[in-house]
Amino acid sequence: MKLFATSAVTSLLLVTALARPYKRQAAPTDVDILQYALTLEHLENTFYKGGIESMSEQDFMTAGFSSEYYTNLKYITHDEEQHVELLTSAIMTAGAKPVAACTYDFPYTDPHSFVTLASVLEGVGVSAYLGAAGLIASKAYLGVAGSILVTESIHTAVHRFNLGEVAPANPYGTGLGLDPVYTAAAAFIKTCPSNNSALPVMAFPTLTATQGIPASEGMPFTFSVKGALPTTFSVVFVSGLSTTSVAPTMNGSLITAVVPATAMGQTYVFLSSAPTSMALNDTMILYGPAIIEVTPPAPTFNLTEH
Ligand SMILES: *[C@@H]1O[C@H](CO)[C@@H](O)[C@H](O)[C@H]1NC(C)=O
Ligand SMILES: *[C@@H]1O[C@H](CO)[C@@H](O)[C@H](O)[C@H]1NC(C)=O
Ligand SMILES: *[C@@H]1O[C@H](CO)[C@@H](O)[C@H](O)[C@H]1NC(C)=O
Ligand SMILES: *[C@@H]1O[C@H](CO)[C@@H](O)[C@H](O)[C@H]1NC(C)=O
Repeated sequence: MKLFATSAVTSLLLVTALARPYKRQAAPTDVDILQYALTLEHLENTFYKGGIESMSEQDFMTAGFSSEYYTNLKYITHDEEQHVELLTSAIMTAGAKPVAACTYDFPYTDPHSFVTLASVLEGVGVSAYLGAAGLIASKAYLGVAGSILVTESIHTAVHRFNLGEVAPANPYGTGLGLDPVYTAAAAFIKTCPSNNSALPVMAFPTLTATQGIPASEGMPFTFSVKGALPTTFSVVFVSGLSTTSVAPTMNGSLITAVVPATAMGQTYVFLSSAPTSMALNDTMILYGPAIIEVTPPAPTFNLTEH
């Protein structure tokens, strides 16, 4: 299972064919952001329906998941369909044509790999809504986006708990910008209807995690890229509210970085042209994100502090 988890997550990062030049608007409009959200919801909606269609409750139970988990899976599938419908009607009300679903290629082969991928996709969904929140101008849309974010986060917890991962691995959610999220999603998108309105997004080149997960603090973790690297760059771990740059060591073409203490739970790793720790922006991103799972340390708290 761990082995598969690795390849599922790694294959998340294999496709960069969809990267294309684009003209970034000064700032995406609210309708752009709704279309971007609908693009992600279509992906999730198709993903869950494919899983429910191709695997039975018995298949999930044989793979070690409970009947209660399967019931939750059906509710999650229902939720994603509702999200698609809500965003579709919001975009129509705003006077635009909603983007249609694309065709996808999801690399799961059995219930465990499906749930592992579900957990990663929901984590990316949470990061997408959190990262886009600051770009939304309308407070009404912001409230709706927050409402969807909460539900995606509950989905994440259901999957993580059932995979034996710590669900609340990080005190904070992780926000990601439009391009890093699209980079993760693009790995699963084969083709989209040509008349879908263009999103103001692009995919970065792929950063591949070349070793098994989960990782933990202090563990040297290796990555690779297909392409050139500048003489100086840093490996940036984005997790919760932390962005931590780590100086890499090279062994041939393998890039090694020690997992920092700030990385807990689903963590996004980038190669940045900036050599030292600073806020990451799209201009600095060379490759990534690779998505890794980091087991948090034992929880600590102070019982006299309340
Ligand atoms: C794209 O074309 C299809 C088929 O003609 C049509 O149903 C759909 O509304 C169009 N979508 C957009 C976004 O224009
Ligand atoms: C470098 O990589 C080679 C081949 O993968 C491995 O045998 C060697 O132990 C590595 N060296 C270090 C210092 O990690
Ligand atoms: C992104 O970082 C680069 C390099 O530090 C900087 O020059 C640029 O102004 C930053 N862009 C934004 C939008 O913050
Ligand atoms: C626990 O919290 C109390 C009250 O704030 C503080 O006085 C004490 O130093 C804390 N203990 C530790 C180990 O942090």
